[in-house]
Amino acid sequence: MLVDSFGRTATDLRVSLTDRCNLRCTYCMPPEGLDWLPKPELLTDDEVVRLVRLGVQRLGITEVRYTGGEPLLRRGIADIVRRTAELSPRPQISVTTNGIGLARLAAPLADAGLDRVNVSLDTLDAEVFKRLAHRDRLADVLAGLAAARAAGLLPVKVNAVLMRGVNDHEAVPLLRYCLDQGYQLRFIEQMPLDAQHGWTRENMITADEILDRLGAAFTLEPDEPAERGSAPAETFVVDGGPARVGVIGSVTRPFCGACDRVRLTADGQIRNCLFATEESNLRDAVRAGASDEDLAGRWRQAVWTKRAGHGIDDPSFLQPARPMSAIGG
Ligand code: GTP
Ligand code: 5AD
Ligand code: SF4
Repeated sequence: MLVDSFGRTATDLRVSLTDRCNLRCTYCMPPEGLDWLPKPELLTDDEVVRLVRLGVQRLGITEVRYTGGEPLLRRGIADIVRRTAELSPRPQISVTTNGIGLARLAAPLADAGLDRVNVSLDTLDAEVFKRLAHRDRLADVLAGLAAARAAGLLPVKVNAVLMRGVNDHEAVPLLRYCLDQGYQLRFIEQMPLDAQHGWTRENMITADEILDRLGAAFTLEPDEPAERGSAPAETFVVDGGPARVGVIGSVTRPFCGACDRVRLTADGQIRNCLFATEESNLRDAVRAGASDEDLAGRWRQAVWTKRAGHGIDDPSFLQPARPMSAIGG
C-alpha cells in the first residue's frame, strides 16, 4: 500500500503520457508552447506498463488515469491501455483529454479496455475557443465527445474552467448543453499551475460564484455528502434530478485531506501531489536495473512524505516548477 504520514492511502494513479499538447489553453500554456521533454527522457511504453503493473500488483493502485499534456498524442496509447487492462487485478482505466483525438480513437480505446474519459470543454463559442485555446478546434472537441459516448466510454465527464471576462458568461449554456447530451459536467476552479505564472485569485471564478451563476437558471440541491468521498467534485442534483453537476473547488474548498492520488510524470518521476516541490526519479532507477522490490520501496517513500495540503493560501506558497502540462492534470 502507498500510505502517507497523515494516514491517507494512494489508490488512484495518474500517469502523464506526454507533456505535449495540440491546444494552448491560457490557464496552462503560452501560445508558443513550451520546451518539450526530449524523447530519451520519456518513459517508453514498456517502462510505463512496468511501473503501472508494479503499482497495481504490489502497491494497491486500483484506478489508473492516463493524462498529458494531451495523452491521445502518444502513439502507443491504445497498446498501453490494452496492456493495463490485461493486468490482474484489473484496474479501472480512464483518460483525461482535450477531446480532439477522440473522434478517431474513442472506439479503438474502448476496444482496448478503456472504461471512461474526462474531456475538457470550456466554451461552446468557436470564437471564444480560439481565444482561449489558440486553435480553432471546437468542432473537433464536440465530435470527440459524441464519439466517446457512442463508444460507450461512460459516464462521459466534461471539465470546464471558467475565467473572468473570457468564458464566465457560459456557465449556464455549458450545463444546458451537457444535460442535453448526457455528459456529466464539472466546473473547476482555476489553479496556479500555468506555465506563465499568470494566475491571480481575483481572476479565479470561485465555487461560490459558479453556484450563484447556475442558481440563476437551475435549482441545485447538494448531493449526499457521502457521494463525494475522495472525489474532487462536490456534486449537486439539478432541477430535482436525476442529472447532476459537479464543482471542483480545489482552491477554496480543497479536498487534500481525502486525497487518494499519486502521479507519474511522462519522464518517470513520482509526484505525491499536483503541488509537490519534490519528485522521486523512478525512471533512472528502472534504467539502472532496479528490482521491483527496490522500485516499490522508492515509490512508498515518495508517497510517505506527501504534505497535508497544497498550501495555496500560505504566504510562502510557491508554484511548482513544472506546469500542469508536464505534471499531468
Ligand atoms: P474522476 O475520477 O473522473 O472524478 O476524475 P478527476 O476529476 O479526478 O480527474 P480529471 O483529470 O478530470 O481532473 C479534474 C480536475 O481536478 C482537474 O482540474 C485536475 O487538475 C483536478 N485534480 C485532479 N487531481 C487533483 C489533485 O490531486 N489535487 C487537486 N487539487 N486537483 C486535482
Ligand atoms: N487549473 C485548473 N484546471 C486546469 N486544467 C488544466 N490547467 C488547469 C488549471 N491551471 C484542467 C484541464 C483539464 C484537467 C486535466 O485539468 O481543463 O480538464
Ligand atoms: Fe493542453 Fe490540457 Fe493544457 Fe489545454 S489544459 S493546453 S488541453 S494540456
